Amino acid sequence: MREGVDISSEKIPATPAHQSFAEFHNRLSTDSEAWSLANEALSVYPPDASLGIIESESGKSFTFAASGDGLEVRPGSEQADALLEIQTNGWRDFRAALETTQSLLYSDRARMQRGPMRIFESWGPVFEALYHRRAPYNRQRLNLRNLGGEPLDPNRSFAPGDDFDEMRHFLDEVGYLRLRDALNHTEIANLTAVAERLRGEAIEGDGRSWWGTNRDGQSRLFRVHYAAQSPEVQRLRASSVVASLLRLSPDEMVAPDEDEIHSTIVLWKQFGMTEGLADLPWHRDCQLGGHARNCPTLVMSAHLGEAQPESGDLRFLPGSHRGSFWAQDMNQRDLVGSIGVGAEPGDLTLHYSDVVHMAPAPTSAEGPFRTSIVTMYRRPASGNHRGDDRHYFDALEAGDGHVRSLA
Ligand SMILES: [Fe+2]
Repeated sequence: MREGVDISSEKIPATPAHQSFAEFHNRLSTDSEAWSLANEALSVYPPDASLGIIESESGKSFTFAASGDGLEVRPGSEQADALLEIQTNGWRDFRAALETTQSLLYSDRARMQRGPMRIFESWGPVFEALYHRRAPYNRQRLNLRNLGGEPLDPNRSFAPGDDFDEMRHFLDEVGYLRLRDALNHTEIANLTAVAERLRGEAIEGDGRSWWGTNRDGQSRLFRVHYAAQSPEVQRLRASSVVASLLRLSPDEMVAPDEDEIHSTIVLWKQFGMTEGLADLPWHRDCQLGGHARNCPTLVMSAHLGEAQPESGDLRFLPGSHRGSFWAQDMNQRDLVGSIGVGAEPGDLTLHYSDVVHMAPAPTSAEGPFRTSIVTMYRRPASGNHRGDDRHYFDALEAGDGHVRSLA
């Protein structure tokens, strides 16, 4: 793995309070480390077109462009193919890794004055380099190793009782881990009964569930919230096997309060969904904001049924939790270097919210489809940087139980 970038000790360079948008960008090229990483990002993820950014309050603007010599940042934005208007506070939070290209637009702290949002997103890895000194996820430079120094197999899974250090190293190196046979038949049956009860109680628009639309125009439930209020789910969250998994992280990880809406959720894959977030394109969980405040977080899925391509599996880019990423097509299931982590009933999977991952649609029209109970564990100091209780996902909610798409 590339040295020098470690999510658990990631240091986002602070913007001096007195440094303005214009001063910062005028001095960018003097930061040789950031500039070099930005040129690497430019070569790994070439942006679609040139981008201008104009600060609302000052009217100052800069153009970001790629030339034969690499990155160019110049004052002015008249010639840029696309133009983003950004508020000063939004830019400061973007610079501080609290906002992202998507979260700025969804929260109306920035808007495209000219050109599509996609052009701004295509510059994401360059901004991560310039603002955060974050290297691009570069598959050509990946060098995943196991504890013995041998090439690491990213398809490996573990069983209870396997070597703790091997498991910890694996999670740290690739960003996810599958623990087989972690739940017994009784636990699976009890949790399945809870999931079925919550499914039966869910009503579209109840504020406790998410619904989408399938290709036949039918509304389908794919997610319920507040599952942690159930005693069976509380037992799972407090179980020794879960505690041992959480110890794999070098950071202290705690479960959010049981009454928090997204604390533990139940997910059901559905076939043929055309609207809503039942299927997730390649993403990081922090791409709606809050990275510097909240990451790393750990997402644990308890699998109550099969999670295979036919029923809806989880896909990952091994080792991508340390780098920036952008894809031409975020819905491309078989991205080069990606792998599917299948699961059987009773398996637990764990992943860092920062690892690039995807929850694709089931490839088969025949169920049963994946059912999983998902808990997001986080560091005690995490929270919403915008200073309210809203979750980042809330920016996507339409208010009727349906949610906007990410891609
Ligand atoms: Fe996710």
